[in-house]
Amino acid sequence: MRLLSVIGARPQFVKASPLSLELRKLHTEVLLHTGQHYDPDLSQVFFDELGLPPPDYHLGIGSGPHGKQTGLMLAAIEELLLRERPQAVVVTGDTNSTLAGALAAAKLGVPVAHVEAGLRSFNHAMPEELNRIIADHLSTWLFAPAQSSREHLAREGVTGGVHVVGDVMADAIRMHGERARMRSTAIPRLGLEEGRYYLATVHRAENTDDEKRLRAIFDGFARLDRPVVLPLHPRTRRRLEELSLRPSSLIRLAEPQGYLDMLRLLEGAACLLTDSGGMQKEAYYLARPCVTLRDETEWTETVDVGWNTLAGADSERIVASVRSMIGEPRPQRPTLYGDGYAARRIAAILAGEAA
Ligand code: UD1
Repeated sequence: MRLLSVIGARPQFVKASPLSLELRKLHTEVLLHTGQHYDPDLSQVFFDELGLPPPDYHLGIGSGPHGKQTGLMLAAIEELLLRERPQAVVVTGDTNSTLAGALAAAKLGVPVAHVEAGLRSFNHAMPEELNRIIADHLSTWLFAPAQSSREHLAREGVTGGVHVVGDVMADAIRMHGERARMRSTAIPRLGLEEGRYYLATVHRAENTDDEKRLRAIFDGFARLDRPVVLPLHPRTRRRLEELSLRPSSLIRLAEPQGYLDMLRLLEGAACLLTDSGGMQKEAYYLARPCVTLRDETEWTETVDVGWNTLAGADSERIVASVRSMIGEPRPQRPTLYGDGYAARRIAAILAGEAA
């Protein structure tokens, strides 16, 4: 098939690495970057490290309020679809780029393939939840990471075209994990000692845009028993400046890290503290315990098997959760989201071959 893939934000560059590789074995792919993430350390570094093909189109849309950002993408993607005439559009995850790609295609009658379909947090205040629900309902192919995603879709009446294929981020770790271990010098570079620090990320609007939550998270970090290394998303950096919030010296602020350094930092950490969706799974794949700084998660299986716990934005719970996650050995790690070959299955299904 002639496919057009829409990407735009950091986690989508990671997902594009296995996807583009496998899609291009069986199909022709046109790659479109919306420009949602534009800082070199949120975008270009991933293309360089992951060997991604350069985008055929870069829309350069950048930041803005949700309506404007999504609207600008929608108009530009529509124009390109009319020019390129792909047989299907591939979108991943739950960002505004996902929504714009799916909506522009569906309105033109171009079938949509949604990778990471069927995830639900059941929190409609999250822009990501709205994006993923709409993308799912517009899609012809719904590539789900787990059986639970298929069940969420069935409850919403979506049963056709659903394929449980596993998680393409597990594919990315399979492809790049060893290289991260060999190449990354992030741990010594940041003055850290293997196993003797915590890794944290904070970027969700629900945390950064709520002063009380953000202060409570930083208060929790400051009360931990080891240094916390926190690569800062630009949104979070700006909020800290706006609020004149000066984190404790136990919190080591760092620039956003590339994919290989981030994998290495995660692997060397005693525990991950995060509000990212993708990193909860990456922690599980690398056998690191995770404390999630949210009130709910889409990746409920990681909690069910005892490797992830929800601490919200509550400093007491953050401290207690870390203590209990590292206090005793974690249980066995069953395979939750596939075997690291999800992208290959997706390419085969799109080609009309059996999964
Ligand atoms: C987006 C996704 C989220 C994903 C995350 C990964 C949506 C609604 N959210 O959130 O699902 O987990 O990406 O990082 O699509 N900014 C920069 N430089 C950049 C990019 C952003 O400075 O390269 C700043 C902008 O000021 C912007 C803010 O960060 O206002 C937020 O960026 P935005 O594109 O809204 O999404 P994320 O918060 O990164």
